[in-house]
This record gives sequence, structure tokens and C-alpha cells, in this order.
Amino acid sequence: MPNQAPAKIQLKDYRPYPYSILQTNLSFELDKKRTIVKSKLEFALNKNDEVPEYVSLDGENLELIELKLNGRLLDTTEYTYSNDTLRFPPPSDKFSFEATVAISPEANKALSGLYLSGESLCTQCEAEGFRRITFFPDRPDVMSRFFVRLEANKDTYPILLANGNPIASGTIGENHFAEWNDPWPKPSYLFAIVAGNLLNKSADFKTLSGKNVKLNIYVESVDIDRIDYAMDALIRSMKWDEDVFGREYDLDVFNVVGVRDFNAGAMENKGLNIFNSALLVADSQTATDFDFANIERVIAHEYFHNWSGNRVTCRDWFQLSLKEGLTVFRDQEFSADQRSRAVQRIHDVIQLRARQFAEDAGPNAHSVRPHEYASIDNFYTSTIYEKGAEVIRVAQNILGESNFNKGAIKYFETNDGKAATIEDWLEALRSSSNDPLDGIEKWYSQAGTPILDVKTDLVENTYSIKLAQNTPPTNNQPVKEWVPIPLDMAFFNKNGEKMVLDFEGTHIDSIHLNLSTEETLIEFEGIDEKPVLSILRGFTAPVKLISDHTNEELAILAAHDDDTFVRWESLQTIARKELLIGAYAVKNNMEFSTSKILMNCYNNVFDIAQNDYAYAALLLQLPATNDLIQASNDAYPENIFAARELLATSIYEQNKDKISKFIADYKFDAEYSPDAKSAGLRSYAAACFYLLSFDDSSSELLEYFKSANNMTDKMSLLFALARKGDDAWSQALNIFYNDWKSNNLVLDKYFSNQAASASGNPVKRLKDLLVHPDFVLTNPNRVRSVLASFAVNNPVGFNSADGSGYETIVNELIKLDGINPMVAARVATAFERVVKIEPQRRSIAKQHLERLLRENISKQMQEIVSSINKSI
Ligand code: BES
Ligand code: ZN
Repeated sequence: MPNQAPAKIQLKDYRPYPYSILQTNLSFELDKKRTIVKSKLEFALNKNDEVPEYVSLDGENLELIELKLNGRLLDTTEYTYSNDTLRFPPPSDKFSFEATVAISPEANKALSGLYLSGESLCTQCEAEGFRRITFFPDRPDVMSRFFVRLEANKDTYPILLANGNPIASGTIGENHFAEWNDPWPKPSYLFAIVAGNLLNKSADFKTLSGKNVKLNIYVESVDIDRIDYAMDALIRSMKWDEDVFGREYDLDVFNVVGVRDFNAGAMENKGLNIFNSALLVADSQTATDFDFANIERVIAHEYFHNWSGNRVTCRDWFQLSLKEGLTVFRDQEFSADQRSRAVQRIHDVIQLRARQFAEDAGPNAHSVRPHEYASIDNFYTSTIYEKGAEVIRVAQNILGESNFNKGAIKYFETNDGKAATIEDWLEALRSSSNDPLDGIEKWYSQAGTPILDVKTDLVENTYSIKLAQNTPPTNNQPVKEWVPIPLDMAFFNKNGEKMVLDFEGTHIDSIHLNLSTEETLIEFEGIDEKPVLSILRGFTAPVKLISDHTNEELAILAAHDDDTFVRWESLQTIARKELLIGAYAVKNNMEFSTSKILMNCYNNVFDIAQNDYAYAALLLQLPATNDLIQASNDAYPENIFAARELLATSIYEQNKDKISKFIADYKFDAEYSPDAKSAGLRSYAAACFYLLSFDDSSSELLEYFKSANNMTDKMSLLFALARKGDDAWSQALNIFYNDWKSNNLVLDKYFSNQAASASGNPVKRLKDLLVHPDFVLTNPNRVRSVLASFAVNNPVGFNSADGSGYETIVNELIKLDGINPMVAARVATAFERVVKIEPQRRSIAKQHLERLLRENISKQMQEIVSSINKSI
């Protein structure tokens, strides 16, 4: 049904499953072509539930061999299996169900269920992959104890892993077997097995209560020497969750496996986390600082799910943010504690604005708890994740850290073993803090980014701050109400000194408010000099601030504010304003030069850089082209890009000497360490290399590229060379390719560097990459390194005026959708951003999306593209 939106599942239709599955026994005869899966499920009707007409089980693409009820073989008149559902009348209130099915891992290119990655067999079951392995009520509120037996050829699959604790193993001729028991009841989405020829490294961890846990990380033999960092991060994560939330690990073993084909980043299967090897495998030669930080974060994230997700799981997929938002919040806090809290917060805000604010302003805007979906695969979004984490932070900022932590611990303890809802989470926070958290639920039910408008005035010695909030309408949600907004403010004088004000009789230099109305007025008496207002300190709520600050005032904050977020934000705000003016000037062939105020701010950064290189690098990071597109209507990305280049040129011109001196002193042969401080220095070096590319510097950059001894510097230099886009870049790419053509993870960087570059003819380059012998549509990392790098990180190329960027991406999406619909639909979300592009290009994009909708596409693709197509 082209152009028709697919059928949707509604939150209001939630009904509990009438049965409990007391025990689940599974046995696998593993073979890549044809795996036989035998299951035995013990059903028991729940108290208070009526006997249903049929028992329904999910099952997708299963070759049904036989079914038994209470040990009796069923004939084909006793059940139906159609539309991915198996139905039979219940024989009694308690009964056993047995199924034998066959599946083909090798033919499974969607990478959901049991599939082949390299020569290993592995699974991905979240959200609805378990039904592609065997029949089961594949929903998160049905929790069962799993016992698993694996049998396979011992040479091809020497390692056999499943959830829980190992129980038994042995040899049977050419084969061997392993039995695993998971004592903790879990939903089917947390099920996992791995079989392969893998190597591992081990470590021991002693838990809070003194139990010993064996930690293992398994990878293909080529990667075995690159997993030490992940192991270290795992140990630190386990310790952190004990220290901060009192959460202890609960099995004898914790296994982590890296695979090369994986739809997402990593997965928290109980006791058997499976990782995209890109987020596990790293050393100085092959991975960047960014990769190391990501590995640390993702290891922590998946480990933290053991409590926020596994021990306490979700009642239904509408509650997804209950585990994902909370776990993102927890991994953000972990990273802040391991690294620099100030830098971490700014990174998180950059990410939130780039992805979530864009989503919230586009055709697929949805609330943190959506009320309907067609495909749950499409709801692993930035809103569920990043906004979900921000909403938790809002609660933390209202309650204070200690009450918040008490509430979180209460949530874990009162909901242990349950499939919970967002109400359960809020109830735990409320009852342990005695704070009603008024209106917090609206953060979960309303889509769209609230706008906080700030107006200040000084009239007859009365200083007033008027705060007004409103959330613009989104698709299907025209009317919005106020949301609670925690807010910290402070005041500075013209010299950048903190001011002490008289507020209702007390002297204060800062103020904390929890906004719980649409409008709020605050007044201070006896003020002679209008204070410079520092507001939304620490970015305590995910809102868009519109303020009446002048550039002079912002410059004072940029130079003096003791809140590191506001100091950074103030410089960004001036830069954003000027870049938008610049883009307009470029479009209309007008003169454009950046202001002295802005240049002074930038020039200062070089003088104070050595105090905190990581922070200085963030200050030098110009507002992204995508963010500026978001801030415009009818945008011309090439003009925005050109304005950005003009700003970078001015920064370079005015700070040439300092940049050259820094680079001259920079030690390209320094010993590499991934710690935050060393990484910070390299990120500042990256900013300098990029700026140096605005000079006649190709051969210099190429020499540095050759002498760099770590992947971080190499990629920073490759990025600078890509900006210039001349022959030196080609030479560097050739060297890079020859050095790394046998390492897939590094090769992805070769592809993404080229796909994301705006220089030269980006669409032509994209087309060349698509026919490169190393390009394949079956590996999600490779797909992302080309298609997503282009569609998301190359706004100039993607939005090329002739529509060739859109056309090429749609052609690939049609092919990819037939292979891996989950990844294809994810790449297609890049078109959400086109709503902000000028109308002529929008209409070309629409033609291509309509062409896509006329194809026989997956329901995932259908859901994403039909809603974009309506709004474009
Ligand atoms: N539960 C998700 C993983 C997942 C994988 C969900 C496939 C659905 C399909 C996991 O915990 C997760 O959130 N992973 C993130 C990384 C994380 C650090 C935010 C991912 O895979 O991108
Ligand atoms: Zn997660």
C-alpha cells in the first residue's frame, strides 16, 4: 500500500498477557545453514485472568517442524500459524508447550534473531528478535527462567555462550555442547547466545558483598590485543554502580562479545553483552580518543542496564525510556566522574541539540513516552534516549542529588524482578523525597522543545527578570502546557565580577528556581547597575533559551562566568547569531565580516587554552552547519557553510602565530595515553590543524599526517586535509588505505572521512565510494560510514541544489531496505532535516521520497518516510 501509513500499536490498548511462563528450556543444534531449535515452555494461567479462547505466541520466519502440548503431538488442524502468530486453544490452566523449528542464520541479513557475523553465530533480540528464533510471547512483561543447551561442531564453534551461569559441557563425537542456566527471570528480548571461534581475556571482580565474578571479553583472534581498555572500563563501571547506586552484579560470570556485524552499538543481554566490535576494540594505532571515550561509555551503559533494564525491566515498549533514558543518564554521570564534568556536560548538550532538538522540530517528533508506533525499531530515538536522560536530570535538579539518589535506589529495590512503568519510577522519586515533582509527567507526554523566553529590565532601581515558557505545537499535539523547569541564575557586573543582590530581604549572588507556571516575574530592589544575567546555568533543563542579552553582555559571560556551561554557551550564542547573518549576506552577495566582540572572545581562547585544553577545544568548535540549518527556515546549507568558513578564516588570521607556535611545539611522537587530559590536548591540536587548513598549508599538514603516531592525530589531520580537498588529501588517503585495508574498523574511517567532506564534488565522491570494492550493504558499520556520514554529516553534499544527493541516497535506501530494514529506516531519518531546507530542494526531496514509497518497502521504512513525506 504505497503512501499509506502502516497500522499502529497504541499504549492505551495495553493488556497483560494471561499466562506466566514458569520455565523456558531451549536447545540449539547450531549450524549456519540450518539451526534446529527445540523449546519447552511451562505455561500457568495468571490468577484473576480468564482462560482465553486461544493462546497466542509470536513467531516470524520460522520453519515449523513439530508442536506438542502436554507431551502430545499436534496435527495441523489443532493450531494456526499466520501473520507471525501461532494460535491454539489452551488444553488446561497449566500446560507444557513444546516446539521444534528450523531457522537459517546465514540467510538472516536483517541481523535480528540468530545470525552469522563473520564465522560466528550470534543473536540480537531487542526489541522483537526472539520471535525469529522460536515461538514465544515476545513482549517485555512476560519474564521467564531460561535454561539453554547449545550443541555445535567443536572446530567451527569452539566457544558456546548463553545467558547466566555455565552448568555443564562435554564432547559428543565431532560436536560439543554447553549448558547454561540463568537464575534470574527475564523477558525474551534479553536472551542471547554466541557460538564461534573466539579468543578471550579474563579478569576478576570482587563485588560489594565479597562475591567473585569472572569477567570475560571475547573477540575474533585479530582483535584480541585490543580489548584491555574495554576490560578496564568494565571494572570501573562495576565499581561505580556499587559506589553511587549500591548496585551489585548478580551472576558468577559476566561475558562480553564483540561482533563485526551489528545493527546498533551494543546490547545488554543478561550476563552476555554483545557489542559491535567498533565499540569494544581499540588501541592507539587503530582508534581515536573519541572511540576510547565511546567504548568506556557504552561498556558502562550496557553494564548499568543489569539493574536499569534487566533486574527492573519495562512493562511494554512505550516505557522504553524508563530503561534507556535512565541508563543514558547513568552513563553520562559515570563519564562525568571518570573524565571532566564540565566537558562532559557540554558534549551531552551538543549531542542533544544536534539530534534530539532536530527530531523534536521535525516530522517524527514524539514524546519521551510515545502513545503509538508502527515499528518499535524506529523508536530507539534521540528523544527516548537523550531527552529521556535530560528529563531524569530535571528531576535530579529539582530534588537535589542526595534525594534523587535515594529515590533511584528505592526504584531499584521496590521494582526488582518487575516489568515497570514510568509511573513506578516517578512514584519512587516522589515517595523517597516527599516532593510531588509537580507536572513532571508532562515532560514524558509532550513532544517538542520548550522555549524559555527571558526579558530583563532596570526601571527606577528595580531589576526585573520575566520568564515565559511555551512549547510550540508538534504533529498531532497542538496544545501544550507548562512543564517544570529547574533554573539556576547568577549576576555579573560589567567588569565580570559576581554581583550580590537584595532578594526579598536576603543578600544573594545566585538563585535557584523551579518554574511551575507559564510566566514568572522576579524583581530586585535598590539596583543601580543592570546586572548581566547568567541563566540556565549547567543546562538544567532541555529547553531553548531566548534571551535579550546583547553581544556585549554575552561577551562578559564568555570571559568571566564561573559556570562552564554558560561561559561556553555565551560564545556559541554570539557565533550562531553572526553566522546566520553571514549566511544571509553570502546569499545576497553582501559584505560580511565578523564583529570585533566575537573575535575578541575567540582570541581569548588561545590565551587561556593551556588551563584546560579540552574545554578550549570545545570553545573553538564552531556551531555546526546542521545546527544552523535547524535555526533557519528555508536554509541554503552552502551559504551557512561559507559563512562558517569565513569565520574560521578570521579566527585563523588573527591567531596565526599562536596556532603555529602550538603546532611547532606539539609532540607528534609523544607516547599515547587515552586519558581525558591527554585526549584534551589532542582535541585542541585538532582545532589548530583545522584552522591551519585555512592557510597555504597542504604539504605541512601532509607531513604531520605522516609523522603522527596515533589514530587520533591522524584523523584530525585527515579531517583538516579533507577540508582543503586538494592533492595532499588524496595522497594521505592513499597512504591510509594501504596501511589499513585489512582492518575493517579503520577502513570505516577511510570511508566516513570522504563521505562527510564538503570539498570538491561530494556527490561524485559518494558515488565513487558506493562502487569501491570494499563497500558492502550487508555490514551496518560500512553502511553508516558511507550513507549516514553523507546524509547526516555532509549537509552541503546531501542537500546539493540539483537533488543528486537525495537521489543517490534514495537509490541506496531501496536496495538496503531489502537487506536490513532497521538500518535502512535509520539512515532514512536524515530526510527529517530537509524540512528546514529552501522550498525548491524540498520539493525535489519529496519526489524522491515518493519514489521510495512506491517501492515494496518494509514497515519500518514506511513509517519513517510516510511521515516525513507529509511534512516536507
Ligand atoms: N538496548 C540497547 C541496544 C539495542 C540494540 C536496542 C538493538 C535495540 C536494537 C542498548 O542498551 C543501547 O542503548 N545501545 C546504544 C548505545 C548506548 C551507549 C546509548 C546503541 O546501540 O546505540
Ligand atoms: Zn541502552
